[in-house]
Amino acid sequence: MKQKIILCANWKMALGREPSKVLAGAFKGLQSKSNNPKVEVWIAPSAVFLSEVAAVLSGSALKVGGQNAHWELAGAFTGETSTGNIKDVGGEFCIIGHSERRHIFMEDQEAVTKRAAAVLKSGLQLIYCVGETLEERESSKTNQVLALQLAPIVENLTSNGLPQVIVAYEPVWAIGTGKVASLDDITQAHDFILAQFRAKFGNAGRQVPVLYGGSVKPENFAGIIALPAVSGALVGGASLTFESFQMLHMIALDS
Ligand code: PGA
Repeated sequence: MKQKIILCANWKMALGREPSKVLAGAFKGLQSKSNNPKVEVWIAPSAVFLSEVAAVLSGSALKVGGQNAHWELAGAFTGETSTGNIKDVGGEFCIIGHSERRHIFMEDQEAVTKRAAAVLKSGLQLIYCVGETLEERESSKTNQVLALQLAPIVENLTSNGLPQVIVAYEPVWAIGTGKVASLDDITQAHDFILAQFRAKFGNAGRQVPVLYGGSVKPENFAGIIALPAVSGALVGGASLTFESFQMLHMIALDS
């Protein structure tokens, strides 16, 4: 039995104002019905609706957070959101380095590292995304890519900051494609990620939650969450309807 599972809904740019509020309310109901703190539900709505979703979730154990954040606290950065902005409206975490940021918006590792450092400095929880492209996997570069993405985070992290970090392993080729990594691939990647933290922090490094993300669905989740190195999931598509998210929540409770 797992002690704690994080189910983080990444709503990307998929939902408008009313659907965001309604779905957040439904997720809140799910949590209060099960009344089981083992499964934590985190929601990353569009930044525009953060404060309204936070209001819906207030008084519950659910967390709301950002999908990205800038490294500066304020300034002339059109289109960006600061960690302070996220905290101001009740945000408790922030996703950084999502593959859509890295590959569609061309955020390079330097920018991703700076964003992640700002999140840690702010006191927000960090969901730090890593993952290889199909080409990298096929040329046996998965571990090399994961090591490069993790190194700047692990290097700069202190043991005080360690509890703020959550890693999401999201193979780029599995996100929104319906293709899911095999259970062996997931285990190998998660073990490799944990080994990077263990190398610096010893046993404490083993406590870093590593979520899997990439086409998580009710049909494949039971196998994934049963893996010892998986502490939860970062869920896109299947977090957009109550029915599918409720099933993921039930599977997590049973695992
Ligand atoms: P998906 O997205 O579940 O739709 O594949 C996951 C993510 O991008 O975080």
